[in-house]
Amino acid sequence: TPEPVKVTITGGAGNIGYALSFMIGGGRLLGPDQPIDLTLLEIPQAEKALTGTVMELQDAALPLLNSVRGSTDQADGFKGCHIALLVGAKPRGKGMVRADLLKANGAIFKSQAGYIQDNAHPDVKIVVVGNPANTNAAIIAEFAPKIPKSNITALTRLDLNRSLNQISSRLNIPVRDVKNVVIWGNHSKTQFPDIKNAEAVINGQTTPVPNVITDQNWLANTFIPTVQQRGAAIIKARGKSSAASAASAVCDHIYSWWVGTAPGQIVSMAVMSDGSYGIPKGLCFSFPVTCKNGKWTIVQGLNISDSFSQERIQATLKELVSEKDIAVSHLR
Ligand code: NAI
Repeated sequence: TPEPVKVTITGGAGNIGYALSFMIGGGRLLGPDQPIDLTLLEIPQAEKALTGTVMELQDAALPLLNSVRGSTDQADGFKGCHIALLVGAKPRGKGMVRADLLKANGAIFKSQAGYIQDNAHPDVKIVVVGNPANTNAAIIAEFAPKIPKSNITALTRLDLNRSLNQISSRLNIPVRDVKNVVIWGNHSKTQFPDIKNAEAVINGQTTPVPNVITDQNWLANTFIPTVQQRGAAIIKARGKSSAASAASAVCDHIYSWWVGTAPGQIVSMAVMSDGSYGIPKGLCFSFPVTCKNGKWTIVQGLNISDSFSQERIQATLKELVSEKDIAVSHLR
């Protein structure tokens, strides 16, 4: 058996953390043969829930979990970790406006950046889930300069999975037969789910999705808004925000990154821009990527020059620039 990989989940006792830790114990994160030392990191106010969650994980006697522990101390919780799943964040409270939330989380992620940089494994792979996820990731990049930029990502895989579901339902085929939808930009209402490069298996034939979904009105006025607003629709239906689907997407994100994407498979990850597609460096933007040997590569040369795509990409870019400005304005 390989050496255990150390995984830390912040917000481990929350909604997503509860679902995620059991999926990890079941092999969804790194495959069925990779043992894991799991740490759930929480704020001291959540210590009781943390204790209970750790007790349950231990009681599940999951063979892949080499060890399970809780911590409320950030230096200790990130110690030596190879993978940091940053789920915990301050939720929007009553009377809080968006700028308040950006500032509060900016301060939290600035401090977390320092703890990760000083305590985690030097090659720690990070995915930010806690919202505003892209901007929180950009703050980590800003305030943990020793962590390679390519190790800092944010989650847009749930948006990708939601898109695959919408397309497969429309075509009445299983979701596994749809791939390569691209999520561009921010994990927010401005994100741009783009089907131009998507493929579906129809009657055994791999077919470009734009050849079989030609109704532009459906794409612009049903598909895109449904994916953009799916989080709110889940809250309305369930009374709570998406938890297991978010946890499942975290597993997909890390699995692709760690194990690699399948031949011909493109996934979406929010990564620190290297200037690709004209997106300025310093922003965490969702791009199409492939992964191999623990590294992601942005897929170049996809055509987004049409006005429909450009309008949407510029809108999500503008939002990300403004989020980062607000979040960092009071941190320096
Ligand atoms: P939750 O409120 O149930 O759990 C969050 C947990 O994080 C709580 O137990 C809290 O004590 C803990 N926490 C807060 N600040 C922390 C810190 N600084 N360090 C460690 N732990 C901390 O929330 P839930 O439903 O689990 O969602 C977590 C976050 O994920 C939210 O910000 C939510 O908006 C976001 N989210 C992101 C998605 C994405 O696709 N990127 C999808 C769904 C949710």
